[in-house]
Amino acid sequence: MAEDPILQELDDEGVLLITMNRPEKKNAFNDPQWDGLRDALRDARENPAVAVVVLTGAGRDFSSGQDLSAFNQASEAREDGNPNGFHGCVDAVFEFDKPLLAAAKGVAVGGGCTLAVACDIVYVGESIRMRLPFASLGLVPELASSYTLQSAIGRQRAAELFFTAEWIDADRAVEVGMAARKFPDEELLSATMAKAREIAQWPVSALVGIKQTLQVANHSGIEAARRAEDDGMVKYAGSPENLEAVMAFMEKRAPDFKKFRN
Ligand code: COA
Repeated sequence: MAEDPILQELDDEGVLLITMNRPEKKNAFNDPQWDGLRDALRDARENPAVAVVVLTGAGRDFSSGQDLSAFNQASEAREDGNPNGFHGCVDAVFEFDKPLLAAAKGVAVGGGCTLAVACDIVYVGESIRMRLPFASLGLVPELASSYTLQSAIGRQRAAELFFTAEWIDADRAVEVGMAARKFPDEELLSATMAKAREIAQWPVSALVGIKQTLQVANHSGIEAARRAEDDGMVKYAGSPENLEAVMAFMEKRAPDFKKFRN
């Protein structure tokens, strides 16, 4: 039987641990993972026993983002008439109205990185390697990160990270403000759960109210960013440059973008 793509564990304090569970692919997101996370967040929102959610990855990594081998499927509407896996999950992330914490170590790339940035608080393990790889994939940012990253770390730093697609380690993540704190890998989850329980002692109504006040100024920025990013994805996904990047990844070689400059 296939493993559950998303694992859930609710403790007595009201902390729900959601684990992205595809470690052999560094928790890359295919449709079952997007759908599973969407459903878990929707259920957690409705469940009065849940006060706080902690999101983490099984194995050594947080997530390597969109499954590149399923990339073209992800940009098409599905037969069931629902938004495709990615969009439905992003809706659920931004509609989630309780505190959402990320415990991220290993790789957090692409959607794995932008998902962390969309969380309210990010704690990282010392092994974290974050990356916004969109330029290297011939694409534009997603998951509203063109807005959320700027708002978290400022335009200068966000522009540098998006344009260079460079790797960000734990010290830099904390220094620029992509993470609140770093912990040794082996302490990351217990430290994040402890912080989540500290938060979960307060009335859920107050936590929801606080999140609402924190989000109100961001709402229109997130909506506008999502529209612009979706337009960009329609334009660039499947372009020759994007196909070259995806083929290079599958063939485990460096991409050649210079051939498109003539
Ligand atoms: N989509 C599909 N498969 C992925 C994946 C992704 N986003 N990221 C990793 N994998 C798979 C690899 O193909 C490999 O599978 P295999 O063992 O069957 O060959 C396995 O996960 C382990 O990854 P590997 O590349 O061997 O690990 P690494 O430590 O050498 O490199 C990364 C890790 C994250 C740097 C590299 O996998 C990578 O660049 N992935 C793509 C990340 C990305 O661009 N995501 C954004 C998409 S928008």
